[in-house]
Amino acid sequence: MSVIQGSKHALLEDTQSAVEVGEAILRERQKAVEPAPKRVTVSVDGQTVKLAEGDTVLDAIKSIGKSVPTLCYSDRMKPFGACRTCLVEVTGRKPVAACHTPVMDGASYRTSSPLISRLRRNITELIVSDHPLECLDCTANGRCELQSLAQQVGLRTPRYENPRIHSPADDDRHPFIKVEMDKCIGCARCVRACDEIQGSFILQMSGRGYDTKVIAGNDTGFEEADCVSCGQCVFECPVAALEEPGTRDFGLPDETTTTTCSYCGVGCALDVHTKDGQVVSITPSESGSANHGHTCVKGRFAHQFAHSDDRLRTPLIKENGSFREATWDEALDLVVSKLGGIARTHGPEAVSVISSSRCTNEEN
Ligand code: SF4
Ligand code: SF4
Ligand code: SF4
Ligand code: FES
Repeated sequence: MSVIQGSKHALLEDTQSAVEVGEAILRERQKAVEPAPKRVTVSVDGQTVKLAEGDTVLDAIKSIGKSVPTLCYSDRMKPFGACRTCLVEVTGRKPVAACHTPVMDGASYRTSSPLISRLRRNITELIVSDHPLECLDCTANGRCELQSLAQQVGLRTPRYENPRIHSPADDDRHPFIKVEMDKCIGCARCVRACDEIQGSFILQMSGRGYDTKVIAGNDTGFEEADCVSCGQCVFECPVAALEEPGTRDFGLPDETTTTTCSYCGVGCALDVHTKDGQVVSITPSESGSANHGHTCVKGRFAHQFAHSDDRLRTPLIKENGSFREATWDEALDLVVSKLGGIARTHGPEAVSVISSSRCTNEEN
């Protein structure tokens, strides 16, 4: 590392640690001002759980390592309470939706019972009544949360007439976000992801009942709205209503590799999802300290270059004005002899090399 790079690095570390110290002081001051949250005690499936006032029933359930089905809930966003699949029993009261109901001191919750099983099954059946039954042909087949829920509650043949098709069902105009609105289940996770995670406020739920649908912008579609193509809405969609092209073209990935984006100096951590070595999709890694689950459009969707026919796959040596393919041994021998010759003739100061693990083959 050069002296300049070293001092820049040290400066960056100093700045980061100063920010971290400042944030820690602020947190301590806030703690000193805010009173400690009141503790409440509840029972979940017979186990005693102590939580802070304001925590939800789902928090209590998770704290003892249990779970209930959820569909509109995402731990990246505020609870919304749209689907009711997370119903649990409360002694002496009507069942409540666990994801957004705060715990009541002294309450006793049951995550499963014949009543709860029947209610969850009926709710799932109602959701499916407005959904095309074409799982085998669907791009979400195998990762779909509605499909898993139907299996979980034991739903095989819905009793209701099926399905109403939203019109217009498909919108393929956006290069990265493929819309199949007849598969939308109205969970609003996409809308909340755009608002709460991305802060772009592009999406909203429009219409009522069967006619409820997600609209982008002033119902212009994603292509013409002010969408920045961050992909958070696609990531959150539990079904195939919002899909990306890679999943459509190559199916579900079978391997994920966490790496660093090569597009710019921010260094976002990315999870690259592949199938048979082919990049299917890329999502931002939640653990990335530079991006915390965010990326720009390039990191999220512009990965097709990785498989471009124009990419360098072997070293090229220029002879008589044109390139010819060479082996690595040949290329490295040539580099050693040329750079060695310059260093011997003009001294080591005459040689300088710029390279980066963030660059593509071609840039390096
Ligand atoms: S979105 Fe899910 S439930 Fe709907 S057709 Fe596709 S796989 Fe089946
Ligand atoms: S891609 Fe991002 S900006 Fe565009 S609608 Fe989805 S969440 Fe909003
Ligand atoms: S498009 Fe997907 S995420 Fe958005 S409301 Fe419909 S099902 Fe939910
Ligand atoms: S997951 Fe609780 S209401 Fe949808």
